[in-house]
Amino acid sequence: MRIREANAADLDAIFAIYDREVLTGTATFDTEPKSPAERAQWLASHGSPRTPAIVAELPGGVVAGWASLSPWSNRCAYARAAENSVYVHADHRGRGVGGVLLDDLLARARRAGLGVILARVVEGNPASVALHESRGFQTIGIMRRVGEKFGRILDVRLMDRHLDSPMPGPAAGRRAGRGE
Ligand SMILES: CC(C)(COP(=O)(O)OP(=O)(O)OC[C@H]1O[C@@H](n2cnc3c(N)ncnc32)[C@H](O)[C@@H]1OP(=O)(O)O)[C@@H](O)C(=O)NCCC(=O)NCCS
Repeated sequence: MRIREANAADLDAIFAIYDREVLTGTATFDTEPKSPAERAQWLASHGSPRTPAIVAELPGGVVAGWASLSPWSNRCAYARAAENSVYVHADHRGRGVGGVLLDDLLARARRAGLGVILARVVEGNPASVALHESRGFQTIGIMRRVGEKFGRILDVRLMDRHLDSPMPGPAAGRRAGRGE
């Protein structure tokens, strides 16, 4: 598996993975697939060291998953904070793809001088909680009843990972995240 920056040729694969969650899941609070112009705009807004978009490519060129960083806020004093996204194709989950993508994203965030990465995880997404905890994220709060999708009102867990401490390996991340 190779991790590399996303390019325009990846947009169909990236949004095939994402749109499944848009239309059938609650991992994202987007409810409508993006238009071709919005997809291109998404890619254009993810080209800088602080806002990377990366893909996990399997032998043969199959995109198994993608990840990105976005600004937490457009207010300047939040510039040290970014939010991550990680999406893995349903056929390739549970095999380490999400972990490798998140490791790469955290390394890029650190090199870019970011201070903290935030993750918003909807209630009832144990895979995402486990993924983030395995990489040293900790839960810092629950935003209660902030979302509504498919007729369900949803809580969102807010998690953070501070980058000004040594980057833990997966085992250290588990200890940090799960209090082991
Ligand atoms: C969340 C997601 C990205 C995880 O990707 P993945 O490739 O399946 O994850 P990995 O195989 O790399 O596993 C990472 C860690 O999470 C754990 N994990 C993965 N799936 C899990 C599950 N269903 N239940 C519990 N733990 C799980 C793994 O055991 C691993 O922990 P470890 O490193 O301590 O062994 C993937 O399930 C996904 O794309 N889900 C839909 C989109 C989504 O929810 N994105 C996150 C939005 S906040």
